[in-house]
Amino acid sequence: MKALPLSEMTTSGRRRIGLGVVGLGRIGLLHAEHSAGPLASAKLVRVVDADEALAREAGDRLGTSWSTSFEDLLGDVNVEGVVIATPTQLHAEMVERAAAAGKHVFCEKPISLDLSSTLRALEAARTAGVVFQVGFHRRFDPDWTAAAARIHAGQLGEIFFFRTTLRDRQPPAAEYIRTSGGFFVDVTIHDLDTARWLVGEIEEVTAFGAALSDPTFAELDDVDNAVVALRFASGALGVIDESRVAGYGYECSTEVMGSRATVRIGQHRRVNNVWLTPGSAAVDWVTDFAERYAKAYALELEDFAAAIRDGRPPTVTGDDGLAAFVLAQACDRSHRERRTIRFLPDNRDGYVLDEAAGGLSPCV
Ligand SMILES: NC(=O)c1ccc[n+]([C@@H]2O[C@H](COP(=O)([O-])OP(=O)(O)OC[C@H]3O[C@@H](n4cnc5c(N)ncnc54)[C@H](O)[C@@H]3O)[C@@H](O)[C@H]2O)c1
Repeated sequence: MKALPLSEMTTSGRRRIGLGVVGLGRIGLLHAEHSAGPLASAKLVRVVDADEALAREAGDRLGTSWSTSFEDLLGDVNVEGVVIATPTQLHAEMVERAAAAGKHVFCEKPISLDLSSTLRALEAARTAGVVFQVGFHRRFDPDWTAAAARIHAGQLGEIFFFRTTLRDRQPPAAEYIRTSGGFFVDVTIHDLDTARWLVGEIEEVTAFGAALSDPTFAELDDVDNAVVALRFASGALGVIDESRVAGYGYECSTEVMGSRATVRIGQHRRVNNVWLTPGSAAVDWVTDFAERYAKAYALELEDFAAAIRDGRPPTVTGDDGLAAFVLAQACDRSHRERRTIRFLPDNRDGYVLDEAAGGLSPCV
C-alpha cells in the first residue's frame, strides 16, 4: 500500500478523511469550520457555495480550496466525503450525484421534501456502497448519548412517557421557510428521530399547529408553534412541543420517564453561574442551535469520517432519515386533516409506505 503523506495522518497514525462541504449558510459554514478544526478523523479539503463571495470568504479564511460548482467537489480526488448543506430541495439530487461519483455522503435533514426522491437517494447510496449519514446531530451530543446509553441498557425500566421541547429564539428568513417543507418536516423531524432513538418505533401521531406570531407563516401555509402527541408501538406515550418564536433563547430539552427512573436532558447554559440581585436570581441561556450543539455538530462529522475510514455503517443511517421524514409528513397531514394518523402494525418496519397514495396510504 502506498504510504500516506504525514499531513493526512493524525498523531495516532490514523488517516484523516478529506471532506468537501457544499452550501455555506447557517449550518454548512459550521460544518466547514468544524471540518477545518481539530477533528481526529476528518479534514476540510474543499468548500462550495453558489454565492461566490461566501465560497471565497470561507475558503480563504479556512485555508481550503473553494468554488461555486458542485462538480468541482465531485471531481476533487481529495474529497472522500461530501457534506450536503444546501437548501433541502437540492439534497436528493446532490446525494445521487455524489454517490454516483463514489463519494461518501453526509446529508443534512431532511433528505428531501418528498418520499420518491428520498427513496431514490437511499437507493443511490446503497448501490454505490457509500456511507450515507443524515444530520441528526442530537445523537452525538454527550448529554443525549449518556442518557441514551442508560435508557438502552434498561435502567429506566419500562418506559411510560417521552416529552420533548424544541424552541428557537427567532425564526429563519421567510425565504428559508418557503422552501423548508413546512414546520413538521423541517423542525419536528429532529424530535421524531429522537423519539425513535430513545424510546422506539411510533404507531400514532396527532399533531396541532398554529401560526401565531406573524401573518407570514399563514401566508406561507405554515405554522410557527406545534404540539404533537405520540403513541409508541411499546404502548408508551409521548408529547412534542415546539416553537420557532420563543423569544428568550434556544431550548431543546427532553424527559423520558420509566418505571424505575426518569432522565431529564437539557443543558442551556454557557456557564454555571447564578446571578443574584435583590428579588431575583438569573442564569444565562444559549441563543441558538449552533451555540448549544457546537460539540455535537463536530462529533457527527468526526463519526461520519470515522465510519468512512473504518468501513463501518454510520451511526445515523439513511433509513433513520427516511423514517423520521415519513413520521414528519404524517404530522403535517394530521395537523391539516385534524385527525390522528395511525401506522398499521404490519407497515411499521421502517415506515416505508405506499407512495401512490401520497406516501401515507397504509395509515388509517
Ligand atoms: N441539523 C441542523 O441542526 C440543521 C440546522 C439548520 C439547517 N439544517 C438543514 O441544512 C440545510 C441548509 O439550511 P441552512 O439554514 O444552512 O440554509 P441557508 O439558506 O442558510 O444556506 C444554504 C446555502 O446553500 C447555498 N446554495 C444554494 N444553492 C446552491 C447550489 N446549487 N450549490 C451550492 N450552494 C448552494 C446558498 O447560497 C446558501 O449559502 C437545510 O436542509 C436545513 O434543513 C439543519
